Amino acid sequence: MSKSTLDRILQAQGFGSRKWCRELIEDGEVRIDGETVDDYRREFETDGLVFTVYDEDWQYREHLYLALYKPADYECSRKPSHHPGVLSLLPEQFANRDVQPVGRLDHDTTGLLLLSDDGTFIHTQSSPKSHIPKVYVATTQEPVSDALVTQLLHGVKLHDEPKPLAAVVCNRLAEYQLEIVLEQGKYHQVKRMLAAAGNHCAALERTQIGLLKLDDLGLDEGEWCHLSAEQMALLVGP
Ligand code: URA
Repeated sequence: MSKSTLDRILQAQGFGSRKWCRELIEDGEVRIDGETVDDYRREFETDGLVFTVYDEDWQYREHLYLALYKPADYECSRKPSHHPGVLSLLPEQFANRDVQPVGRLDHDTTGLLLLSDDGTFIHTQSSPKSHIPKVYVATTQEPVSDALVTQLLHGVKLHDEPKPLAAVVCNRLAEYQLEIVLEQGKYHQVKRMLAAAGNHCAALERTQIGLLKLDDLGLDEGEWCHLSAEQMALLVGP
């Protein structure tokens, strides 16, 4: 349990500088339990706090743990250059809180992307030592042969990689579609592995991280949600 003044609470939740938050409060734009609070020095218990800013309700969260159904033509980089950034799909308060994608998906890759402002969580999730499997569904340019699946499972040599990289699981789903599970997250890994095995990736979607399935989140492309404690517990390795 911890208490804080209202201006500090709003600042910590990404509503702007302390000065700006004080102005918001003094202008009568902030309500708690339906009551306008215009004294920024008032203290509130942050645990479970729900507050209203400009008629929109917010729940206090010490950290943000988000899942986004990333659409194509969005970049994961912090300084996007050719396409809009994924952060533009979230409320602007979240960017102010330094929310970052956990790892990256290419601009043309769709699917499950985690975002957070918790550095420890980002580090654990991104570390290859955690062995958290990522499931991708790739649409291929050439038919998926048994030989392709075998090659991806045995490992393929990529330029700049000292050792061959292998899929943990690889299944043919349809003539031009395969499911591939990786525990590393090297640059363009699925696309490069498919190319090294003599095929070409025409489209790519990440469908699962650990045991958390994109399908179970009920999101449409471009939509995001907060992850519950139960959903967070699914983000594990073997
Ligand atoms: N592998 C790729 O090639 N691209 C991605 O976006 C993710 C994994």
